This record gives sequence, C-alpha cells and structure tokens, in this order.
Amino acid sequence: MKAPPEFGIIPQAFWDDPYPTLAAMRRDAPICFVPQLNAILLNKRDDIFTCEKNVAVFSSQQAGGLMTVLMGENMMRKDGDAHMKERREIFPAISPKTVKNTWRTHFERETRTVIDGLKDRSGFDIVRDFAMPVSGHALRHITGLTQLRPDEIDQTSQAMIDGVGNYGGDPALEAACHAATAKLDAAIDARIAANAPDDDTSIVAVLHRAGQPIESIRANVKLAISGGQNEPRDAIAGAAWALLTHPEERAKVAKDEATWLQVFEEYARWISPIGMSPREIKQDFEWGGVTLVKGTRAFLMFSSANRDEDHFDEPDAFRVNRDTSKAISFGAGPHFCA
Ligand code: HEM
Repeated sequence: MKAPPEFGIIPQAFWDDPYPTLAAMRRDAPICFVPQLNAILLNKRDDIFTCEKNVAVFSSQQAGGLMTVLMGENMMRKDGDAHMKERREIFPAISPKTVKNTWRTHFERETRTVIDGLKDRSGFDIVRDFAMPVSGHALRHITGLTQLRPDEIDQTSQAMIDGVGNYGGDPALEAACHAATAKLDAAIDARIAANAPDDDTSIVAVLHRAGQPIESIRANVKLAISGGQNEPRDAIAGAAWALLTHPEERAKVAKDEATWLQVFEEYARWISPIGMSPREIKQDFEWGGVTLVKGTRAFLMFSSANRDEDHFDEPDAFRVNRDTSKAISFGAGPHFCA
C-alpha cells in the first residue's frame, strides 16, 4: 500500500494560473495529494477517462458537501440508477433535437437583439454586455424561468458558485448564496403554479411532468444555472479574446480554414471552463502505483487532462486546427455534460 506523493501548491499562484503547476504534477506526480486542497488530484487524461467510469470507487455522492447543503441534492451528486433516472427525465429539455427545433430560434433572436443594442455604442465590455446576456437569455428559455432577467440568472449563478466554493466559511458569501437559492425557489414555484402547456419543453416543465419531487426540481434547476451560465459566457468571451490575441488563428477562421465549432472546442480544451469535478473514494483502490484510500476526496482535473502531452502536441498553444477529439472538457463518464 503506497500513499500518493504529496505535492504542495501556492494557492494564490494556483488560482491565478494553474497550468504551470498542473504541468509539473503531470511530469512528477500525476496522482498526488495536495494538502492545501485536502484532496488527491488525478492529472492525466487517460487516468481520468478510465477512473471516472468506475463509480463504485469514484462516487459523486457527497451528502455533507457544500453543493448538496446549499443547493440541494442534484443529479450530479448521485450515482447509478438514482442518477440515470434524473438524467433521463431532464433529457427532453436539453436533447440535441430540442436545442435544434426549439431553443435555437430563441437563442438566435435574443442574440440578435443583444447585438442590435450594441451597434451604436463606441465601446463595450464583451463579457458583461455581450457574452453574459447571450448566455443568460439561453438559460432563461431552457430552464423556463423567463420571468428573470439575464443579469439575475448571472448573479444567482455566481452567488451559488461562490457559496459552493466557500471552503473558508465566509458568512457574507453564504448569505448571498442563500438569497440566490431563495430567489430561484420562488421563481420555480411561480412557474409550476402557472401550469405550463403540454408542449413546454423547459426544464421546470419537463421535470414537473415527469413527477420529480419539488426538492429535486429545485436542485436540478439550480445545477443547470450554476453549471450553465458562466461556462458558455466565459467560452464565448474567452474564445473571442483567444482569437484577438492569436491573429494567425483568427486568419484561419476568416479564410474558412477553420470553423467556429473548432474555435469553441479548442478554446474549451485550452482553458477548460470547468477545470475539475470532485469525487469521493468509496473503497480502497490501487491505481497508477498508489493506493487511494476509502473516504478521501479526489479531484478529476479536466483542465490538466486537456493539456496532457501524451495526447496534445504543444498543449499550451491555442491552435484552432488541432485534433481535439481526446479532450474531456465536458467530462468522460456517466455525468458527461447533460
Ligand atoms: C461551455 C459550456 C459547458 C461546459 C464546458 C460544461 C462542462 C461540464 C462538465 C465538465 C460537467 C461535469 C462532467 C463530469 O463530471 O463528468 C458538466 C455537467 C453538467 N452540465 Fe455542463 N457544461 C457546459 C454548459 C452547460 C449548460 C449550458 C448546461 C445547462 C443548460 C449544462 C448542464 C449540465 C448538467 C445538468 C450537468 C450534470 C450532468 C450529470 O450529472 O449527469 N452544462 N458540464
């Protein structure tokens, strides 16, 4: 039985730019214990790709975790049948077919309106004035909470993310998270009380029709907002920034040598909008020459996997033409982005 090697980090430096530290971990200690995070980090793409599917060991259940305590027990914190049942129930709201046949029209109309509102301005902030409302409008429609403004979606999303990451126990962050979840609960209750028509494919409507208990509906809508606002917002604005700072890559798009989908996928590889996903080790497990002990916390580091030298040539470079098929920006197991 060999414990994973310890790898200390400087939290502020890791927060500012984790990539140099993650590269050192991949080189020297691909599976390591980081005392500052009180967690074991899995950093290699193939380790994560294989282990994430082994839910008997890498469990998503974290009953006492901050996400469950503050936002309720959502599908991302369940395993096995309990997880698959809720995943099936949400599918009609977010399936590729529903996105194409229903949401796309809303996305295009809202985006056009946001762009029209920017036309006469001498300058604007691409995150606040473009990516944020585009992402927020998309979520208003998908969730069914159309009574909220995009900035309210953004604010409640951020408050929940800050609350879930509040390992330091800051009371102000906790209070802001409670206020956000109360606001969303009220909005969800109002939508349910309004009796959606049978063809309403929003998340609130399909989960209610599926008979999901109100606590689960609330938890899963909060999951969609906390996991569905910042990521597209930052990917939209981040991809624009990446192209503006890499003129040679931008030229490829202008000359039709690369598609916008390639830009998005390479951006999500290069700077993973969700850098990691936590798991709890449910039974002692030997892997990669070390023992993972029952009860410890493990972080699947998607951000590190997406720059794994074994799969990506010059992984720190942003190159829109590269093969990104091995990237796991959306996960690699049963919890693969809904
Ligand atoms: C750039 C955009 C996005 C990225 C990069 C992203 C990434 C991810 C990742 C990494 C996971 C966890 C996978 C795992 O643990 O294996 C996840 C799960 C999830 N995502 Fe996304 N996501 C994005 C957008 C969205 C949006 C817009 C929504 C909702 C409308 C959404 C809903 C979900 C849900 C519900 C889950 C949990 C799935 C489950 O537990 O089965 N995501 N996403």
